[in-house]
Amino acid sequence: MSEVLIRLEGISKSFGKVRANSNVSLEIVGGRVLALLGENGAGKSTLMSILAGQLRPDSGTVSARGQVLHLTSPEEAIAAGIGMVYQHFKLVEAMTVAENVFLGHRQMFLNRRRMEVEVEALASRFGMSVKPSAVIRDLSMGERQQVEILKLLYRRSEVLIFDEPTAVLTPAEAENLFATMRLMLAQGKGIVFISHKLEEVMSVADDIAILRRGEIVDTVPVKDVSSTADLAERMVGRKVLLEVEKKSVEIRQQVLSLDGLGWSEQDGGVSFELRQGEILGIVGVAGNGQKELVETVCGMCKPHSGTVRILGREWGEFFRTAADDPENTLAWIAEDRQGLATCPSLDLLDNFLLTTRRSFSRGPGKFFLFREEARKRAEYLLKTFDVRPPDLSAAGWQLSGGNLQKMVLAREFYRKPRLIVAEQPTQGLDISAMEEVWKLLLKAREAAGILLVTGDLTEALTLSDRIGVMFDGRLLACFPVEDTVNLAAVPQMMAGICEECAA
Ligand SMILES: Nc1ncnc2c1ncn2[C@@H]1O[C@H](COP(=O)(O)OP(=O)(O)OP(=O)(O)O)[C@@H](O)[C@H]1O
Ligand SMILES: [Mg+2]
Repeated sequence: MSEVLIRLEGISKSFGKVRANSNVSLEIVGGRVLALLGENGAGKSTLMSILAGQLRPDSGTVSARGQVLHLTSPEEAIAAGIGMVYQHFKLVEAMTVAENVFLGHRQMFLNRRRMEVEVEALASRFGMSVKPSAVIRDLSMGERQQVEILKLLYRRSEVLIFDEPTAVLTPAEAENLFATMRLMLAQGKGIVFISHKLEEVMSVADDIAILRRGEIVDTVPVKDVSSTADLAERMVGRKVLLEVEKKSVEIRQQVLSLDGLGWSEQDGGVSFELRQGEILGIVGVAGNGQKELVETVCGMCKPHSGTVRILGREWGEFFRTAADDPENTLAWIAEDRQGLATCPSLDLLDNFLLTTRRSFSRGPGKFFLFREEARKRAEYLLKTFDVRPPDLSAAGWQLSGGNLQKMVLAREFYRKPRLIVAEQPTQGLDISAMEEVWKLLLKAREAAGILLVTGDLTEALTLSDRIGVMFDGRLLACFPVEDTVNLAAVPQMMAGICEECAA
């Protein structure tokens, strides 16, 4: 059972001046979960991309059951029994589950019925509920992830690598994933698990390897770790308290008000008000209208019914004139970091300019852009927000997830917004970056009203002044965070089992 399936020895990898992995050695053992931990940019994804055949190391070796592998492509890694579930799924949306599983499979005749039966059997063997005939675009994140896993299991992967698999899952979906992982372990498969959620790591992992600036600084069996605080300290190299001080702030003018907002015929009736000095935390299981709410407030889609007032102006008027008014800025920290918040193929300076261009432009119609001025400002901001590397010529895609998020915050806060929409602001961030972002949001609330949309209840409770629960396109309740009676009912409201939910 406890056979070493994969051995990494002396792996190093640099990107230009950045040393992403430095002399890393690790073992992946059958029947055990190895958690790979480290701050944003520590080199976790790079190391696993090497193992999955996506990247080639500068030096070092990967061997499987004692045999050295020379991986030059993901196909070769898969043939060697190594499969990776990426954070951004690689599925064909218009195809069915079974078709995706069989995609790329070289077989002359494929019988749809037989494909579906095979996929069904595989799914049920590993405790997965996804239907083989369902089309990907109709599936939840958790179900899509199951398809990615099925693809690997179908190709007989012995070692499965999960890069932050729970970042996009609801708590219930995460539990399902863990159950599937246990079934894999029982079959002798080895698992590598990357996550920033330390409680999760403590409950799922058997062994923990910690990377810091590309080097392994610690490898411990989980039974030798006393608490998540102990783990955080091993990872960051100092005590991390995750306790942020929440000062009371004077509540001032209204920055956002919704009155009976609806997005379609069916849903609707979301009403609330947000004032400067407040954080309103909207919680709920993803897919209950949070996305539509955010997109309406941020001007991406039109209200279907009801009214929305932003910074004292009616919705349409605000978006017609907002761009010209530096006093009235709305900042949006979008959940989709790579698709909406940034343009990964552009360098960091251009990414910084995406929403700040007007501040550095002069002349008629703000025609002339003062790039040098922007560069100096952006350079300073990247250092203050501890973006690693603080290199404006790096492309967005070269940054690790957490560092890209810090870049977005640096940019959005630069305009001194009065209304901030923060959507899953700490998703994928390591514990010290999370602490920094929390502090930044609390500080920003002195000058702004903040609409915080989050799937993380701890985050909502730590930051919010009021909590709103969304279910089925409606706001079920909105109450001060001190209201313990309502607070206790939040999990039921989120799951749709309460009096208000039935209405
Ligand atoms: N293709 C690339 N080109 C240039 N630099 C890169 C590239 N990929 C990663 N890097 C750099 O290598 C370092 C390690 O990045 P990596 O993505 O492995 O970190 P990570 O530990 O997975 O972080 P996170 O927790 O934020 O996902 C970072 O400094 C990153 O900017
Ligand atoms: Mg990563």
